[in-house]
Formats: sequence, structure tokens, C-alpha cells
Amino acid sequence: MEGVWGNREVHPAKLDHAVPRPHRSVAAAACGFTLYARGVHGTRAASQTKFLLQESELPRRWYNIRSDMPTAPQPVLHPGTGQPVGPEDLAPLFPMELIGQEVSEDAEIAIPDEVLEIYSLWRPTPLFRARRLEEAIGTRSRIFYKYEGVSPPGSHKPNTAVAQAFYNKQEGRTRLSTETGAGQWGSALAFACKLIGLECKVYMVRISYEQKPNRRSLIQAWGAEIVPSPSEETQSGRAILEEHPDSPGSLGIAISEAVEDAAGREDTAYSLGSVLNHVLLHQTVIGQEALAQMELAGAFPDVVIGCVGGGSNFAGLAFPFLREKIAGREIDVLACEPAACPTLTRGLFAYDFGDTSKLTPLVPMHTLGHDFVPAPIHAGGLRYHGVAPLISQLVLDGLIRAEAYLQNDVFASAVLFAGTEGILPAPEAAHAIHGTLQVAKAADEAGEERTILFNLSGHGHFDMAAYDNYFAGKLQDVALDEDEMSRALHAIEGLPSPA
Ligand SMILES: Cc1ncc(COP(=O)(O)O)c(C=O)c1O
Repeated sequence: MEGVWGNREVHPAKLDHAVPRPHRSVAAAACGFTLYARGVHGTRAASQTKFLLQESELPRRWYNIRSDMPTAPQPVLHPGTGQPVGPEDLAPLFPMELIGQEVSEDAEIAIPDEVLEIYSLWRPTPLFRARRLEEAIGTRSRIFYKYEGVSPPGSHKPNTAVAQAFYNKQEGRTRLSTETGAGQWGSALAFACKLIGLECKVYMVRISYEQKPNRRSLIQAWGAEIVPSPSEETQSGRAILEEHPDSPGSLGIAISEAVEDAAGREDTAYSLGSVLNHVLLHQTVIGQEALAQMELAGAFPDVVIGCVGGGSNFAGLAFPFLREKIAGREIDVLACEPAACPTLTRGLFAYDFGDTSKLTPLVPMHTLGHDFVPAPIHAGGLRYHGVAPLISQLVLDGLIRAEAYLQNDVFASAVLFAGTEGILPAPEAAHAIHGTLQVAKAADEAGEERTILFNLSGHGHFDMAAYDNYFAGKLQDVALDEDEMSRALHAIEGLPSPA
């Protein structure tokens, strides 16, 4: 029987029964098979550093957490009518297949072969045991990380970019427009469009456009057109520039521009790199692979950790583990965010627009207000006023907790990680590293031992200006000011309240 991971030709007779039987995950059980550590002896797994899957073991289905959530997420509303949006409202922006995935309650959705073929350029991604980091901090805990930086653009983002480009092409669109913060998403979509054969236009948050000229060039190398946002090319951009000529931009503003671009052209669809249900769905290949790899390691995490901007890499790793948690396993699931943009830790759960110019539907989520422009910290991909509604609902239900960190602490953890594990992390991903170190430290102080798994969502090779500033002592620690937060939250007054 074909399971989530495809056909596994492992004959029980070949098993060495001296090896302890691995845990059988809910996901594996649902598919009618158990994952065995092929030829990996228990003691070897205990000293092994990398846990790798074969290309043939790539997940064949995305996992849809909506089918298992204890509380169904509230509907997205049309701002004009206050009624739930229907497929016809979304059709100008998205292909029907993605609209279907957005509202699907099926537990699993098949990954098209064409998407799997492109995934196989870098997937399955490796899972590492961070032995050197463990040693450096002297922890009793075991630390594992899933490394998504091996993709051509350097992050988890192409997991959804390829799928979105595929469905758009299939339904006859020839061009996609999008926003990008740090440049990771813009480069992922440019890469996907190039391979699939679509044009691509990227609105890049101005502060990142200036800080990351190399990401810009990468986006151009994959054939996409790129402009700093706010730009003069859209009505939304011009309106912001008129009021704030020096605006550093924000993801909310760039989304307005990209949505306006797509809404104004028949040949163009809009593509979002995070937040939406279908985006999180596509990312679940990460967690499904990690479940299988943790079994190879003969371990199961007590704590699963990811950084959260809109929430896609976090969800990608955490949702398959939350499936286990909802089924009764005890797992602490921690979302890490910047103190400068503390959406989950300090935002309100409310209906709000996904963009600054109020062009999107109303989304039920933790928000800091749609016109909130976060301080220009160096984790550009985490500067978003809202978060995925699926994650918000799971936070409300107590299945996920969140913490916020200051950027100098985060960079210190990033440098410690680079000096032990060798990989220089993206500043966004460094929030998950910092969270991991906090959890390990707390466990050590309590005399406990944890198995911790975090998502290293990308490398930081295009973020050297941020590291330069850190080494020069020029990074400012910004925690969101209470007055600014109340001002920004005024923007949602009068919008419908979630039930
Ligand atoms: C490497 C990396 N990690 C994390 C994020 C945050 O996005 P999300 O919360 O959707 O994973 C970004 C966004 O650009 C990113 O580039």
C-alpha cells in the first residue's frame, strides 16, 4: 500500500530484532506500515550525525492539519459583505486548485508528479543531530535540526513556490506577482517560475532591497523582474510614498502592491509565500520527512521549535508532529518571533486585513494591526503584522506556545551555531536556534533532559550585511513599544470580531 512516504520495500524478516522497535507514528500507522531504520543499528544511530532519506522516500502527499484540529478555524471574510469569501471572490487572484486546497478538509492531498520531480532536486533534506552544539553548551538534552537551506534558493520557500507555479501554469496563467521581505520568498518564486515557465514580478520590501543587493541579483538571475516596495508602479505604493517618502516598506505594503498588480491583469495571479492554508499545507513535506528521520535516529522530540513570520516553515515542521500531539503524544511546540514584531506573544486575535492597503479579505489571526510597520530589524522575513490563521487557532487552543527574542541575543546564538555546526543561519532561522538554546538551558537548570527538534529554515549567505552590523555592534535591540502597539491596533477598530 502506498503511504505518505511512498512505497517502502522493507521486509520485516530483514529486521535485526536486537534493534529496538521504533515508535510507530500516527501518520505511519494511518498508512498501514511502520518505518524501520534500514540497516541503521541502534548503537550507530546513537552516534550518527546525519539522518538521510532516499529520493524514493519523498513524501507523496501533503498533510492537511484542518482535518485534525480540535477547533475549526474561523472563515475568512469579505470586507464588503462581512460574509465568508467564496471561490468566486478568490478566483481573480488564485487558481481553482489552490482555492480548493485552502478550504479542503481532506487529511492528505496528493503531490503532483511534476512537483515531486522538481522537489527531488534538493529533497529529502537532511536532518542533523547537533552534537557539537550540544557539547559546546554542555547540555544533557539532545538537539536535532531539519535543514531546509539545501534548496537552490537557500530556504524552505520553494516547497510551496514550485507547487503554486505548477497549479497556475496548469490553469493557464502566464505570470505571477508577489511580495518578498528578506528576499528568500522572492528568489524561491523566481526559481520556481523559471523552472516551470512563467514570468514573475517581485515587490521587495525596500529596507531588504537596500540591505540585500545579492538577493536582488539572484532573483534577476532566475529571470524575474524586481522593484523596491513601496514603488511608484501601483496605486498602493504611490499612496504610501506620498505620506512617507522614506518608508522602509513592510510585508503588508508589498502584499498590497503585488495583489493590486495581479488583480489588474488577466494573465497574472498573485502568489503568497506564507500565511494561507495552502502554503502551510505545501510545507508539510518538512515535518513528514523529519518524522521518518527521527525514527531513523531512534528518537522522538519532546520539543518542536520553529521561527514564525507568517508561519509557513514553522507549520511545515510542526504540523505533522501536532498530528501526533492531537492524537495524544506529549510534545511542547514552540514558535519563536522577534520582540520587534511580537505578533503571537502580544498581538490581538482579531479579524484583520493581510495587507496595509486593505485589498485582501479579512483574516482571523493574531495581529498587530495592518498598518503596523515593524522596526527595520535584520530578520526581514519575520516583519509581518499577522500570522497564519491555522497557527493562531492552534495557539488559542493551547497546542502551540510562543516566545519573542531581541535581535542581538538571536545573532549571538546564530554565531554560536555557525561556530559549532558550521552552517551560518538566516537571521529568521536563528530565532529557532535561540529558542532551542533557551529550552535546553531551562531543561538543564531543572535537571531534565529533552529531545529537541528545530527547523533551520534557511542559510544566511545573503545576510552578510546583517552579520557585519552585528559584529560592528550596530544592531539595535528593539522591543515593540506599548504606545506604538496601541496606535497600530486602532486600525482594526470597527472590523468584525471573531466568534
Ligand atoms: C529563512 C526564512 N525563515 C523563515 C521565514 C519566515 O517565513 P515563514 O514564517 O513563512 O516561514 C523566512 C521569510 O522570508 C525566511 O526567509
